[in-house]
Amino acid sequence: MMAKKIPQNTNSYSERAILVGVEISNTSGNFSLTDSLNELERLAETAGIIVVGSTTQRLDRPNPQTYIGSGKVEELKMLVNELNANIILFDDELSPRHLRELEKHFGLEVSIVDRTALILDIFAQHAATHEGALQVELAQYEYRLPRLTRAWTHLARQAGGGGGRTGSVGGVGLRGPGETQLEVDRRDIRRRIAHLKDEIEKIKVHRRQYRRRRKKYGIPIVALIGYTNAGKSTLLNQLANANVYVADQLFATLDPTTRLVYLGNHHQILITDTVGFIQKLPTTLVAAFRATLEEITEADLLLHIIDITHPNAMEQAKAVYEVLKEIEAEKLPIFTILNKIDLLNDPAQAQIALTQFPNAVAISARAGIGIDTLTQKINEFLFEKMHSVTLRIPQRDKQLLQSFEQLGRVDRVETDEQSIIMIGEIAGRYLARFLPYQIDPDFLLNKRISSFL
Ligand code: GTP
Repeated sequence: MMAKKIPQNTNSYSERAILVGVEISNTSGNFSLTDSLNELERLAETAGIIVVGSTTQRLDRPNPQTYIGSGKVEELKMLVNELNANIILFDDELSPRHLRELEKHFGLEVSIVDRTALILDIFAQHAATHEGALQVELAQYEYRLPRLTRAWTHLARQAGGGGGRTGSVGGVGLRGPGETQLEVDRRDIRRRIAHLKDEIEKIKVHRRQYRRRRKKYGIPIVALIGYTNAGKSTLLNQLANANVYVADQLFATLDPTTRLVYLGNHHQILITDTVGFIQKLPTTLVAAFRATLEEITEADLLLHIIDITHPNAMEQAKAVYEVLKEIEAEKLPIFTILNKIDLLNDPAQAQIALTQFPNAVAISARAGIGIDTLTQKINEFLFEKMHSVTLRIPQRDKQLLQSFEQLGRVDRVETDEQSIIMIGEIAGRYLARFLPYQIDPDFLLNKRISSFL
């Protein structure tokens, strides 16, 4: 247990938060309590909140009522008064019950905000595209619906029905507290959720059509993924500027974060920037962002950007892999890009880091270091090199069998009861679609050995 005051010198009215971090025994997160709280502080700053203090607690399990223990609640009350705070910011997602109980304890003057609400708030502020805005709005409503309380409604009214952090529900008229009113609010929100889902579905269909067109033209798609602030957008700009960027009419209406890039030798790729990942990424957000995340699952190659100078670089990388698993994209071809090497004191550090990751390239997206090596590597992988594969394709999947025969080179074919096993080679730009059928190259050998036993 510890409480810490953070010195700051602003007197004007502002959002002043005390951070609360809880470590629950036997739960294994990648980040230490301190690192996670430091990250929460940066998130708070990004959202324009001033952090005036922090406190932590280690528990065997969350208190069923207030998440933190009753002693901690009392300690926090004193801290709130002492530091003149108006927000208590939890580093974990609070259940609706926890939120309700805590609101009772701290009254209407203090907002209880959790990491999820904060991340949703930041996403809402940063959503640059119509699609992004719709997806965040959906995630916000999904998060808020079970958390709608009388106190909450009141707060929303105080904030003018759209401005309060916990209570901002933009667009839904919240007219006043009371059970009946709550029901009206819930119905309004459900209606809005249904509408948003319809809109997002339309976008999904639209995007699928684009992807089909892109595939028809055979331009490989490379998706940039990475922890927030790793440097994805900077790399996208660097690649797009370093190469001749042509605003081809065909792709003119693509999402603005996709660029057509020439790699040389008349090879071109589409590079697409995706949403930044963060540990404890709210599940509502992952669900709502399916339309955007589908871009990743449909890519031919992923570039995983890591800020190698960040003290939590490894933990951040792990958090990214976890999201990849969640969206079933972890088997796609992936290059690791160690970014910001211009900040390293000793260039040898980059070489050491490179040995820890397979297929890695060290770059500085900002200073333009290592970009040629990267584009060369992408060129090689997608266009120039053939990759050995052993595929087991169901016999009934005639189209897939045919397309491998057309696009790749078949060295050997074997059949078993229901499938055809193809051993051959294929260029990287066609690889992704066959990867779900990839089997261990020793499969045939093992099968033969077991038939002798
Ligand atoms: P999200 O939008 O949060 O997902 O971030 P992002 O991954 O797109 O990162 P972005 O490109 O916005 O870069 C984040 C910060 O890192 C910016 O301040 C960049 O200027 C900085 N940055 C990016 N690449 C480099 C680099 O190679 N060296 C240095 N020193 N800074 C970099």
